[in-house]
Amino acid sequence: MPLAEIEKNLEHWVKTILAATSAQELERLKADIIGKSGVVTDAFKMLKDVSVDERKSFGEKLNKIKVQIEETIAQQRKKLEDYEISEKLKNETLDITLPVENDHFGGLHVITQSLRRIRDHYAARGFLVLDGPEIETDFYNFDALNIPKHHPARQSHDTFYLKGFDETLLRTQTSCVQIRAMQEYGVPIRMISIGKTYRNDQLDATHSPMFHQLEGLVVDRKPLTIGHLKSELKKFLEFFFEADSTAIRFRPSFFPFTEPGMEFDCKYTKKDGRLIITDQGDKWIELGGAGMVHPNVFKSCGIEGPVYGFAYAFGLDRIIMLKNGITDIRNLFDTDQRWLKYYGT
Ligand code: DAH
Repeated sequence: MPLAEIEKNLEHWVKTILAATSAQELERLKADIIGKSGVVTDAFKMLKDVSVDERKSFGEKLNKIKVQIEETIAQQRKKLEDYEISEKLKNETLDITLPVENDHFGGLHVITQSLRRIRDHYAARGFLVLDGPEIETDFYNFDALNIPKHHPARQSHDTFYLKGFDETLLRTQTSCVQIRAMQEYGVPIRMISIGKTYRNDQLDATHSPMFHQLEGLVVDRKPLTIGHLKSELKKFLEFFFEADSTAIRFRPSFFPFTEPGMEFDCKYTKKDGRLIITDQGDKWIELGGAGMVHPNVFKSCGIEGPVYGFAYAFGLDRIIMLKNGITDIRNLFDTDQRWLKYYGT
């Protein structure tokens, strides 16, 4: 197309571009006018046939036209985009006055879920569900539990003492709640207590300086035996692990507040990384400590006469981890939102 005609067409092109209603239409116009084989691009090819005198002005004119077309297209493209956005906004407005359903406002941590479940279970069976202070005295954490000042058992606990407060510490075990419970409620008593305990341990996959224990205590004037203890442990394990059957074995052990004292194991198998408690299991797993309450413990609670009792404790974090296939205790106390959501309610 000769230059004169191009110049004549310019106004029409500009109008057409400014009337385009879609990005595709703009692209087509761009291709027709200044694209690889567009009319303006073709006209540039004629440059070599134009006389030297006119070549400069011919080139300048064509360039101007090309720039004008480009600018008009850009201008119209922007207009179309703005329009599209404003249309979108118009159609996508949110009615913030509507009530929101199914939103996730947070959930219960796996420890809290288990803790509540366990408390409900025991409460339904007539047990007192008690709390004790996490900051304890030497007396409740050790002395009253038949662990006198220089007893070697104290060393193994690696206790956090409170600076500036004599004989005040972060409890190393929930067994101190046994003492508080017997002092307050006397005999008979059935109680549990779940709570935080502290020991100066290095944090790793299986140890944490803060962990939870579940403590159970049953005391009566009528004879209680290791058989009762075993049945009690079985009941709890079958409930907690949702097991149909359990097999428990005792291994002799030493806890100053028990006589005899023992550790207990339970038969299990593994399925998908999770622990399945069953008497059909082929392996034993260690779950906690237990024993018959030592006479000195009754004495330190002011309980006299014929009295019988058994007590036990589980590492709560440990059984939660086993049940849920969690292998690193640190996960329980981290703030990884994906992890918390997965195991939370
Ligand atoms: N308090 C002990 C500990 O933390 C566990 C324990 C053992 C608790 C025997 C008991 C018991 O009630 O009878 O290692």
